[in-house]
Amino acid sequence: MNRLTAALACAGLVGLAGCDPAARAPHAGQATAQAQAMQQMKMDVDAIAAFTGSKIARSDALAASQDLLAWSKRLPDLFPAAQVSALYVDLTPEMAQAAPEAMRRTAERLAATLVSASPADVAVQLTVTETQGCGACHRKGYQ
Ligand code: HEC
Repeated sequence: MNRLTAALACAGLVGLAGCDPAARAPHAGQATAQAQAMQQMKMDVDAIAAFTGSKIARSDALAASQDLLAWSKRLPDLFPAAQVSALYVDLTPEMAQAAPEAMRRTAERLAATLVSASPADVAVQLTVTETQGCGACHRKGYQ
């Protein structure tokens, strides 16, 4: 968990490790819908990366990309712009407002490449998705 995520967890948005135990008590042992969404999106990204390394079948990577796109469409509800910009010190309200759309747009292109593009082309679009999509909120990475 990076410092930013830990700060958010400690702010009470999520109940995750890395904070004062008293602060986590309300969510002890369960992830929020937001954290679950992020974990699923991360798994989808990892699955697509595995495809570019010839470790899983295209059909599985395509399914992951469609799942990623579906989650992207839910971001405006899960992460309202005002909330995100208040929590991410380096995100202006305008950037927070634009982030879900950037995520949706890049995920859509990624899903399109998975229909028939070469693994190398998928890898390029995966990087675009991570930098322009995930990176629209996670300016300093999410690992
Ligand atoms: C609209 C803004 C936004 C976008 C886009 C976004 N994230 Fe996040 N992400 C957040 C916020 C806010 C948190 C911390 C809050 C939380 O975990 O509930 C977070 C947390 C995370 C976490 C930590 C979850 C945990 O269990 O602690 C991971 C991993 C993550 N994001 C991965 C990704 C990946 C991968 C993408 C792109 C596919 C992505 N995020 C796109 C806003 C975003």
